[in-house]
Amino acid sequence: MLFFLFPLLFFVISAEIAFRINEKLSTDPQFYEEWKDLISIQDRQMGDHSEDLFHFSSLLHQLKSCPSVRTLSDGVNSLRVEDVAIYADLGHLSTYCTHNLTRLNNGDLDSCGHHSSSSSLPTLDKMFRVFNSNLTLINVHRSHNESFVNQTKAITARIKEIPGNEDKWKMIVMLPNIQDGEASETGQAAIEVLQAIEYLNDNLPRNTFILVLKSSGKGIWRDASHAHSACLTLLDRWKKFVDYNSEEVWDQVKIIVEKNFQNQQFTVEILPLLNEGALAQLPNGSDLSSLGFDCAHWSERGLSLLHGAIWTSMLTSLSMRSKEYRPLHSTPKCPEPRCPFIRTSANSAVCLWSKIEEDPFTLAPQFIAVAILSVSALLCFILVIFLCLRKDKGQLKKEKAFGSNFSSIKFIDDDA
Ligand SMILES: *[C@@H]1O[C@H](CO)[C@@H](O)[C@H](O)[C@H]1NC(C)=O
Ligand SMILES: *[C@@H]1O[C@H](CO)[C@@H](O)[C@H](O)[C@H]1NC(C)=O
Ligand SMILES: *[C@@H]1O[C@H](CO)[C@@H](O)[C@H](O)[C@H]1NC(C)=O
Ligand SMILES: *[C@@H]1O[C@H](CO)[C@@H](O)[C@H](O)[C@H]1NC(C)=O
Ligand SMILES: *[C@@H]1O[C@H](CO)[C@@H](O)[C@H](O)[C@H]1NC(C)=O
Repeated sequence: MLFFLFPLLFFVISAEIAFRINEKLSTDPQFYEEWKDLISIQDRQMGDHSEDLFHFSSLLHQLKSCPSVRTLSDGVNSLRVEDVAIYADLGHLSTYCTHNLTRLNNGDLDSCGHHSSSSSLPTLDKMFRVFNSNLTLINVHRSHNESFVNQTKAITARIKEIPGNEDKWKMIVMLPNIQDGEASETGQAAIEVLQAIEYLNDNLPRNTFILVLKSSGKGIWRDASHAHSACLTLLDRWKKFVDYNSEEVWDQVKIIVEKNFQNQQFTVEILPLLNEGALAQLPNGSDLSSLGFDCAHWSERGLSLLHGAIWTSMLTSLSMRSKEYRPLHSTPKCPEPRCPFIRTSANSAVCLWSKIEEDPFTLAPQFIAVAILSVSALLCFILVIFLCLRKDKGQLKKEKAFGSNFSSIKFIDDDA
């Protein structure tokens, strides 16, 4: 019923406010000083994260050693990470800003539209690829103000070009932030997400898994506004967007999704990771190095940390999922042995599955090895016994040669 509360609005009135940080920088000297301070703090903090290199470089390596389980995949509730064949992500939290202090100081501002897959740090596409080297990455060109539904349409069109796409498992990760959608009742991010889900359900109804990062509330961005005056100014223009992006609307979207868009072939999981998200704290104050210079997007570092947390959340049962994201390093998570699937509400409640026993062909080499080993052990044993017996016989002969031996007696006799 709630479904009808939000009639589909495919005409999207552009709400893109032509806000140029550059413009603001040249007209507002106070903001200029604050912003310079922000980017130099970010620069210093990035330099201070000496542990980054170790964590980022070992993450994919650690995932490589996750055990693999053979099961029969019979739908969304027993989908393993290695079954995912096509990956796409969309939304402003799937892109990052590069950070180059020299260039930023020269007023050469980055677009903040770098796609996650272009990052040199671990991101979701790279994590899935660890488990399936054949993963197809969908990376559609998008302008920074492309609507969520338009991004989804472009992704769908690209997926449909892939031969056999219907039978392949598709993972589509929706990562909206405050800039996705509009500051209006019908254009807010949650509604855009719902429209995108509906479009996907109509066009890719088979073997599709959608992960949505719920971005209600203020969380990270409220924290950022408090953490630095430049962020406060930069994020001020998104205030109305944040007000519209309410918890209640996301709750309704969740109910609609559960009623209409969860079946054996198509499902949507909404991750609560950012519900009570906040920036990490350093002894000196907030860690701004996970944010880009516009305070709304992530830095390359921040994006990678978030993707790692989404990976963990995806493999965690519903009741255990974190709601308090902090941009910090965490140990990469393997699929749980007890339920080695991407977790859904169904397999979080009951996770029934059976391991496929190894078939004889894969076992054959092991059998042969065991057989060869046993035969050689047996041969060794026989050889050892044989040698021992021979040695005993030899000793016996020697003893006899020196004793009152029949033949020696005979020999003596003969001699005599
Ligand atoms: C996107 O932004 C560009 C300028 O940056 C503008 O020309 C275009 O009309 C915008 N499109 C939409 C749909 O908002
Ligand atoms: C930053 O940009 C400048 C100018 O484009 C370039 O010379 C320099 O190598 C860049 N620094 C890094 C760390 O990429
Ligand atoms: C990977 O993809 C290629 C072509 O798309 C296919 O020939 C090959 O069998 C695939 N490999 C695996 C392990 O699925
Ligand atoms: C979405 O696509 C339609 C048709 O291609 C276009 O007219 C519209 O401006 C786009 N909207 C946005 C916000 O990108
Ligand atoms: C803490 O602040 C001082 C002075 O502002 C600065 O030199 C130092 O690098 C900061 N430390 C961290 C971890 O940000």
